[in-house]
Amino acid sequence: MTDSNNKWEYAPSLEGTSHIQLKEKYDLFIDGKWIKPSNNRYFDTINPATEEKLAEIAWASEDDVDLAVMAARKAYKEVWSVMKASERAKYIFRIARLMQEHAKELALIETLDGGKPIRESRDIDVPLACNHFFYYAGWADKLQDAFPQRNIQSLGVAGQIIPWNFPLLMAAWKIAPALAAGNTVVLKPAESTSLTALKLAEIIQASGLPAGVVNIVTGNGDTGAAIVNHPDIDKIAFTGSTAVGKLIQKSVVGTSKRVSLELGGKSANIVLEDAPIDQAVEGIVNGIFFNQGHVCCAGSRLYVQESIADEVVRKLKQRMQSLYVGNPLDKNTDIGAINSKEQLGTIEKYINIGINEGADMYQLECEIPSKGFFCRPTIFTNVAQSSVIAQEEIFGPVLTIQTFRTIDEVIQKANNSPYGLAAGVWTDKGSRIFNLTSKLRAGVIWANTYNKFDPASPFGGYKESGFGREGGLHGLEAYLK
Ligand code: NAI
Ligand code: MG
Repeated sequence: MTDSNNKWEYAPSLEGTSHIQLKEKYDLFIDGKWIKPSNNRYFDTINPATEEKLAEIAWASEDDVDLAVMAARKAYKEVWSVMKASERAKYIFRIARLMQEHAKELALIETLDGGKPIRESRDIDVPLACNHFFYYAGWADKLQDAFPQRNIQSLGVAGQIIPWNFPLLMAAWKIAPALAAGNTVVLKPAESTSLTALKLAEIIQASGLPAGVVNIVTGNGDTGAAIVNHPDIDKIAFTGSTAVGKLIQKSVVGTSKRVSLELGGKSANIVLEDAPIDQAVEGIVNGIFFNQGHVCCAGSRLYVQESIADEVVRKLKQRMQSLYVGNPLDKNTDIGAINSKEQLGTIEKYINIGINEGADMYQLECEIPSKGFFCRPTIFTNVAQSSVIAQEEIFGPVLTIQTFRTIDEVIQKANNSPYGLAAGVWTDKGSRIFNLTSKLRAGVIWANTYNKFDPASPFGGYKESGFGREGGLHGLEAYLK
């Protein structure tokens, strides 16, 4: 232990990467085969912790997207929609089992490509992704029980576009319910984190899933737009920025396409004076520093009741000094690399705005690697409700802290946001939990915990955080007529 802080100096404990297999170049997974992009364009994917190139990824054109949609339509008509539901379930179950067998490899690739700590990809992302497939495999032949008195009908071809913060998990959230409800899929991963979706394509190929049921097309925003604008797609499911979500909404107006959007957030984490303080501090740390704050439902606005504010902030600062920032492959690491140079730039821009707005900044004092994209966990106190850093989504390890006196005041402050994705409440009293959860305008509210996910519970937002729910039966319903 060093004197200045309570931090133990651990020897590095690096996860080895010698046994994972990455190709130099990845093509498009269309109709069960690997196909070169029509314009022969590729882009690099890098490891954001080292800035080293990992592989080249195909950049799908409009023509490639068209090919993928045609394959998905054919598979829908001829195979998937006419197959017995219990047979469909077996395929989804098999994909889940194969993912489990490849869990270690998937976790390592997720960490290399995206920058998140191996502890999180190993213990959270990959197991949860497997569980989504298991969960929806179970529903595939019980749709009539799930929705009694309804004529169960799938939608057709689903176009799915996902972001870089939980690459494999988001692929699972999108693909598993779509298949269970009898649809076929064209999915586009985010450009900085395509590798685990491509590994999933290899797994899907090995599972024997009929060709064309799942197609993975990689590329940039233009590839996403080609999916959104394709006339033969029945449903668009998007997770990403509010800006792109709004664009998508505009482009489907006047078409018969169904849309579900899961967008950003600026979620309030509220600590009342009777809360178990040490537990709450852990929850605050988990709420904002988990996955470098690259979490749409991150607890990025902390509200602490005035009488305990000094104690909470003191303990939070102390806890921050014991966090490890660095190599995501090190099992001791709490905070890994920011996903991209652009995102690091965005976060640094907001930190400077916070300083210029006159808030008080406090950061973890530590060395950060000179290569790669890293950001010290940061908190701001003395923050005005109207300040930019308390209003806009930062999507990084940056927390604003405000105090409040009464419950009514904190409800008003928490709801004063264009977003409404999640919230957290910390208190000893059940009645207070119910009072707050009924008045907070957020899709998900955690009580005495934060950032907990389960395939059986629906997830989604209000207002500019989007609409539609994923997970649970709600998530299935989004893929049925
Ligand atoms: P983005 O919304 O541009 O990217 C998300 C996905 O949409 C990617 O697969 C991208 O290729 C695709 N895309 C981009 N333009 C498109 C278009 N015109 N049509 C169809 N698809 C398109 O997000 P970006 O630029 O990576 O991140 C910007 C900000 O968005 C972040 O700083 C964060 O605030 C927020 N964000 C929120 C996420 C969430 O989980 N709600 C996830 C990622 C980012
Ligand atoms: Mg990458």
